[in-house]
Amino acid sequence: MADYQTILIEKRDKVAILTINRPDKLNALNSKVHMEGVSALEELQKDDSVRVVVITGAGEKSFIAGADISEFAGQTPVTQRDLFHDKTLFNTIDNFPKPVIAMINGFCLGGGNELALACDIRFCSENARFAQPEINLGIMCGGGGTQRLTRLVGEGRAMEIVLTGDMIDANKALEFGLVNHVFPLEELEVKTLEFAAKIAEKAPIALQMSKEAVKFASRSNLDEGLRREVDLFAICFSTEDKTEGVSAFLEKRKPNFKGK
Ligand code: COA
Repeated sequence: MADYQTILIEKRDKVAILTINRPDKLNALNSKVHMEGVSALEELQKDDSVRVVVITGAGEKSFIAGADISEFAGQTPVTQRDLFHDKTLFNTIDNFPKPVIAMINGFCLGGGNELALACDIRFCSENARFAQPEINLGIMCGGGGTQRLTRLVGEGRAMEIVLTGDMIDANKALEFGLVNHVFPLEELEVKTLEFAAKIAEKAPIALQMSKEAVKFASRSNLDEGLRREVDLFAICFSTEDKTEGVSAFLEKRKPNFKGK
């Protein structure tokens, strides 16, 4: 992996942990994090030994406390739009073909919540706090907060979060469906990595196709979605992993998937 200043990458067997590493700024997302995050994910995408990515923030206080507000002062509409257009960190995560889990270990605010929303699954610690506080700065969400949040939790709950800017706690986030599970902080890493390791044993192409199909559900109507699902299902039948999975079941053994 390249040498990054704001990102740490650790590989544990088939799982890569990408840590946003600016704990003194509560891991706020500056333009360097955006740039390095995109490059790190491009590297992890090409690395066949990595089957699942976990994203977290350094330290025990914050996952990501949002966009780096100090950079807002110098931004013009054009530079800010360029940073948030097309190949953003948020969209790179959303389009990443392998499963991505957000391991939320504290403040999950603004762009931090938008980054978590771009992930496939969100686990958090009991001390996590969530908000889209942009409204308090006289601006609004720009990294998918109004769109991905609404699709995940529904319009009324998204309105509450986006219009008030107020923080909600981990239990409220769980009740809203914003996170999948809440754990005591000391258990968060173990539980998340256990879950990631479990997914990492599945057939990589089938994981990728499943992810694409599920994501398509909120971006299409039912008929288009059902057609896309059956096409992706059919592609799985062209893989060596399908032969391996079926043979392993019939031979009463554990499958060994290779991503082929
Ligand atoms: N951008 C830039 N710097 C940030 C930041 C952000 N989003 N969030 C925190 N920081 C910095 C603080 O400026 C401070 O830096 P300093 O020590 O050099 O002064 C450091 O991180 C620690 O934060 P601090 O505010 O002292 O911690 P706290 O425990 O008192 O408060 C928060 C924590 C999260 C409530 C508070 O930092 C906050 O409101 N941050 C902004 C959240 C936000 O609005 N995010 C959305 C941006 S669109």
